[in-house]
Amino acid sequence: MNFELTEEQKMVQAMARDFADQEIKPKAQELDQTERHPAEIVQKMAELSLMGIAIPDTYGGGGADVVSYVVAMEEISRGCASVGVIMSVNNSLVCDPINTFGTEEQKRKFLTPLASGKKLGCFGLTEPEAGSDAAAQKTTAVLQGDQWVINGKKNFITNGNVADSCVLMAMTDKSKRYKGISAFIVDTKTPGFSVGAVEKKLGIKASGTAELIMEDCRIPQENLLGQVGQGFYVAMNTLDGGRIGIASQALGIGRAALEAAAEYSKTRVQFGAPISKLQAIQWMIADMATELDAARLLTLRAAFLKDHKQRYEKEAAMAKLFASEAASRIATKAIQVHGGYGYIKEYNVERHFRDARITEIYEGTSEIMRLVISSNILKGR
Ligand code: CAA
Repeated sequence: MNFELTEEQKMVQAMARDFADQEIKPKAQELDQTERHPAEIVQKMAELSLMGIAIPDTYGGGGADVVSYVVAMEEISRGCASVGVIMSVNNSLVCDPINTFGTEEQKRKFLTPLASGKKLGCFGLTEPEAGSDAAAQKTTAVLQGDQWVINGKKNFITNGNVADSCVLMAMTDKSKRYKGISAFIVDTKTPGFSVGAVEKKLGIKASGTAELIMEDCRIPQENLLGQVGQGFYVAMNTLDGGRIGIASQALGIGRAALEAAAEYSKTRVQFGAPISKLQAIQWMIADMATELDAARLLTLRAAFLKDHKQRYEKEAAMAKLFASEAASRIATKAIQVHGGYGYIKEYNVERHFRDARITEIYEGTSEIMRLVISSNILKGR
């Protein structure tokens, strides 16, 4: 067993760290306040091959491995969790399924601009009545001639208000339940496709979360992704990878909170000495660091398994479950270390606290993660 990153992985990590320190972190407060899409940052991330980092370079990607994706995601999310999820969705939920299930033509037409970051993608699975119960799709796609006609609504779609393409799930045969779901690639400029409400949220405020509306939205027959009826499998397989991305985002948020708490404790003087001299504070810092490391090891293991083409859905769920809940605990302690100052906006930890919370919810709640883990164990793996 080797815990050392390769030279290439270290280079990706250092590049992402420098970029986050110079270009993302200084803007994180403003992004949180203005809730604007950070287009200029996404553009630069595209130039650094971060928008399709683990996609082969023949299709516009960075040609790196999943471990590199994890270390880069941690650095970017440490700078700003909103930027982290914009990156994660494009990588994991859009580029990855097109790379895995797409035809050569789909890869040239859709994957190449998405992986190179010239275009941005979103993932349309969630619906008002299909959240944790992802199979309860109400959106329909009907083949008419050589076009699929899509009708329905998606909600809580990350990047939905700014995306150029959407990997979208829809029911093509209701009688077959989850085996009647199919996946499609939809150009968001298609007539009949529109963006509805953009949500106001607790955290990750610079990441757009939108409703998508399809009204007789006609897409070419060849935009079917995978086989008819394979859409639920496409979605589940995609989310396994996505959960590694969200675990990495949680690592970045947790690390930002830990670093802020450690730094603050060395400068804040109470009872005649920096509070870092107090065992109460030292123990909190020790717990935060230990949880963060455990979360990182789980996340890297899931990435390693994906890189080595081994099954990883249980491990990805464990990583997301633990890393997301750890990030929330770490952010809570970071506020505690800061005392009253932790509760005001100037010190950033209140933002980390708000941003951490979503990692326990999207791409499968903690409860769904526990379901995925236990069902794997009970099936003997
Ligand atoms: N890989 C491959 N196949 C899988 C699979 C996986 N990970 N998970 C399930 N399947 C297969 C099962 O083996 C089963 O196939 P068979 O019948 O052939 O055995 C089939 O799919 C149905 O499985 P289940 O009976 O377990 O399905 P279910 O309806 O009970 O649901 C679930 C399973 C795990 C709860 C699933 O619905 C789920 O993951 N829900 C959470 C949805 C989610 O994560 N949404 C996130 C939205 S995207 C998002 O949040 C993006 C963002 O904004 C950042």
